[in-house]
Amino acid sequence: MSKNILLLPGDGIGPEIVAETRKVLEVVNEKYDLGLELNEALVGGSAIDATGKPLPDETLAAAKAADAILLGAVGGPKWDTNPDFQIRPEKGLLGLRTELELFGNLRPAILYPQLAHASTLKEEVVSGLDILIVRELTGGIYFGKPRGIREKEGGVREGYNTYVYDENEIRRIGRVAFEAARARNKKLCSVDKANVLEVTVLWREIMEELKTEYPDVELSHMYVDNAAMQLVRAPKQFDVIVTGNMFGDILSDAAAMLTGSIGMLPSASLDKNGKGMYEPCHGSAPDIAGQGKANPLATILSAAMMLRYSLDQGQAADAIEAAVSKVLDQGLRTPDILSEGMRQVSTAEMGDAVVAALNS
Ligand code: IPM
Ligand code: MG
Repeated sequence: MSKNILLLPGDGIGPEIVAETRKVLEVVNEKYDLGLELNEALVGGSAIDATGKPLPDETLAAAKAADAILLGAVGGPKWDTNPDFQIRPEKGLLGLRTELELFGNLRPAILYPQLAHASTLKEEVVSGLDILIVRELTGGIYFGKPRGIREKEGGVREGYNTYVYDENEIRRIGRVAFEAARARNKKLCSVDKANVLEVTVLWREIMEELKTEYPDVELSHMYVDNAAMQLVRAPKQFDVIVTGNMFGDILSDAAAMLTGSIGMLPSASLDKNGKGMYEPCHGSAPDIAGQGKANPLATILSAAMMLRYSLDQGQAADAIEAAVSKVLDQGLRTPDILSEGMRQVSTAEMGDAVVAALNS
């Protein structure tokens, strides 16, 4: 049976990294007889330029029809000044997340031993690192209403957003995290700001309630400011972290740097049935777009996650991950992970090397 995969290259470095990932998918498709059909559509700034909308109707329809989606990145300075937030590139991504109800965002931060030197942190702090951030993706302050910029009395403008979670939203992301912890080292740290924000007092309460369903998982709680500090002080104390949308956005960038480069971090965003959209954790990096400097490995590793989680093709996923490890063993590095004695390669050379490793 054929599987319909939607590729959404997006903006900035998105098209370059997705092109390399396409090469990799084409190879495993052939090799493991996966029956993947790869289609492409527009999202983000490139979609605004072509259609006036960051998430054109055809793209949304194609995403709904697809078995899985692989996205590059969206955004760039060209579109950043639009005062209408509805026609910003980011709305394309956020629209896909909400329309497809992709509430469960898995962001694994794994340090490849070959990159222990590439991290800005001491090797002993990060070596062997393997943590998973479970971020709630369709609620919280990103989507809470009311929101906007309004004028108060006297003509003073104020911006406002609403941080809101209902208990069902908390429970469903909590279950994703407890399940993930159960399948790993059975330690779950829930990150909140319950000393200040009522919404996270409820978050903490629901996590405690869920604990009774998962007696084999050890649950702890941490305030987000402390969690940010602990992530750079002693990151290996964590196994699985679960948190809300905005805290997860911030902590996952910090966690990414522990692994040497944000250019190495894949992610999966899943709905309740396991259908998902896969994307690198990094952004569109407009400053290096089109120069062949971008690291395609986070997107290639996202494709591996896609094969494993949404398409049940663990063997092909393992092969991609092994190929990535092999090119790192060969000393090939894009500029973001370059260290002494290693060979600098371009985006396309990195993609070709992964393809060659798969074929060898
Ligand atoms: C991410 C990104 C997005 C987010 C942006 C591009 C809207 O930073 O996926 O982490 O904030 O969720
Ligand atoms: Mg982010």
